[in-house]
Amino acid sequence: MHITFRQLKVFEAVAHHLSYTRAAESLHMTQPAASMQVKQLESQLELPLFEQLGKKIYLTEAGEELLHYSSAIFGQLEELEEVLEGMRGLNRGRLRIAVASTINYFAPRVLAGFNRRYPNITLSLEVTNREMLMRMLEANEKDIVLMGQPPESLDLDHEPFMENPLVMIAPPEHPLAGEKKIPIVRLEQEAFVMREPGSGTRLALERYFQEHELTLKTGMEMTRNEAIKLAVRSGMGLSLVSTHSIELELETGRLVVLDVEGFPLMRHWYIVHRKDKRMTPAARAFMTYLLTEAQ
Ligand code: PGA
Repeated sequence: MHITFRQLKVFEAVAHHLSYTRAAESLHMTQPAASMQVKQLESQLELPLFEQLGKKIYLTEAGEELLHYSSAIFGQLEELEEVLEGMRGLNRGRLRIAVASTINYFAPRVLAGFNRRYPNITLSLEVTNREMLMRMLEANEKDIVLMGQPPESLDLDHEPFMENPLVMIAPPEHPLAGEKKIPIVRLEQEAFVMREPGSGTRLALERYFQEHELTLKTGMEMTRNEAIKLAVRSGMGLSLVSTHSIELELETGRLVVLDVEGFPLMRHWYIVHRKDKRMTPAARAFMTYLLTEAQ
């Protein structure tokens, strides 16, 4: 097979845009030149990569296969580039990090510290929920992910770096505030403000109720910890949150932690990466920094 990176790049752009015109624009080339590259590729492979139905073009089965492999090839090339960067010294590396939304309460502090030590490593940070983090790991999009309990379904290396106590919160005027050793069954009478499906915190709450064969009365659903805290504060229900997200509210007395039997639920935060991912020196430096300094 004599295919070139250039052909693959053009093919990827066309597959991404499903339009020769827009693909050509994105690569700063003319439309006929782009379509010529794809034609040459098709004739090399002796299979059509796109088919035209009406005005639209679609990937053929061979096109889908090629897209899968070309993404992997370009992913590997990027990784090679970073490894070589690293060999030239930790002076120019790049590090793509993604963290669970709750971790974002302290992630910026950690990144700032790391940045002071390695000012030439360019950091990018994405904040999202557990499910999206799992997808990113699957798609090999990030160097390092910081999250709660990592999924067993993926081949991952993970190491706990910090405790993550989960607690029940209520507004200070709630009848249960100040009560000691509240039996867990008592919580069946309360409504809960929930994080969105896909959130690890939500999963922990659902699992806990299931394990204790309790019925969870769910109320409003919200995608942000900040919104959850406001909703609880306004009496819309109780919620389960990480203590890392409520430091300020506890200090100012806007929220209280209920003394429920069996709580806090002790969880951990993990530093996670794919087992098959070649760790760049920048990624290794970050892991070492997190596991030693950031404590
Ligand atoms: P999340 O984070 O609730 O924002 O998904 C917690 C976790 O990953 O366990």
